[in-house]
Amino acid sequence: MNYATPRNIEHLEDCRFYHYMDLPGIGLVEGTWDLRDEIDNYLGGLDYSGQRVLDMGTASGYLTFEMENRGADVVSYDITEGQPMEIVPYMNGGFNLAAAQAASSQMGERTKNAYWFAHRLLGSRARAYYGDIRSLPVELGKFDVALFGMILGHLRDPFGALCSVARLAPSTIVITNQTHPDDDGGTPLAYFMPSTANREPAAYWALSIGCLTQMLDILDYEVEDVRSAWPWCRGIPERDGREHCSSIIARRR
Ligand SMILES: C[S@@+](CC[C@H](N)C(=O)[O-])C[C@H]1O[C@@H](n2cnc3c(N)ncnc32)[C@H](O)[C@@H]1O
Repeated sequence: MNYATPRNIEHLEDCRFYHYMDLPGIGLVEGTWDLRDEIDNYLGGLDYSGQRVLDMGTASGYLTFEMENRGADVVSYDITEGQPMEIVPYMNGGFNLAAAQAASSQMGERTKNAYWFAHRLLGSRARAYYGDIRSLPVELGKFDVALFGMILGHLRDPFGALCSVARLAPSTIVITNQTHPDDDGGTPLAYFMPSTANREPAAYWALSIGCLTQMLDILDYEVEDVRSAWPWCRGIPERDGREHCSSIIARRR
């Protein structure tokens, strides 16, 4: 299998951390999200011991390392090296798509550096795979659990990403997404987030619990449990505070 070649990252300055993490010999590194005191809920409260797990959209890897701590064998997945996230292609107001894509690629590379920096310091055994989310290779093998942590809303085609992972037939899919605290799992709603007014750069969809349940049902997964988590969003000044997530645990029928 063509896993990513580990990067030998020696300097913190070469890294961009998405997550708050405690690193041996370094201490606390700060990022955009602090999941530490809500991590069990964020991971869906599963027993990860002995599980082979695919961590979809690993960023700086905190979820991978936490699942490893709980006894999992993890493959960390992220976007192809050098590729930008799917930037919203505003065609008006002088938006410079090429510049936004270049900035996204650069941030992605620095985030991958952070993953490998932490990977080395934590003595992680996780392997990373970088590639196209729509065509994950079956050679990755079978997984017990696939975890989608705050990634589906960033994709133009979130259902396509679920289909791609369902081909690998994990017995459990966990989706942790930001949801409205009043979402009771009923009406299947998908809200399109970007507009010319908000210029949201790379978040497309707010997906309700009912919407995700319906997608999972099509792929023959049944929602067994939904947990709330309230992690801290710290890296965005106007949003500093706890925000609500739902962690949806679905089992293959
Ligand atoms: C918001 S972060 C979530 C990090 C982590 N999963 C968590 O829940 O804390 C989204 C991650 O998804 C990755 N990502 C976004 N768009 C992607 C795409 N089209 N293909 C693959 N990965 C993508 C990003 O590179 C980033 O690492």
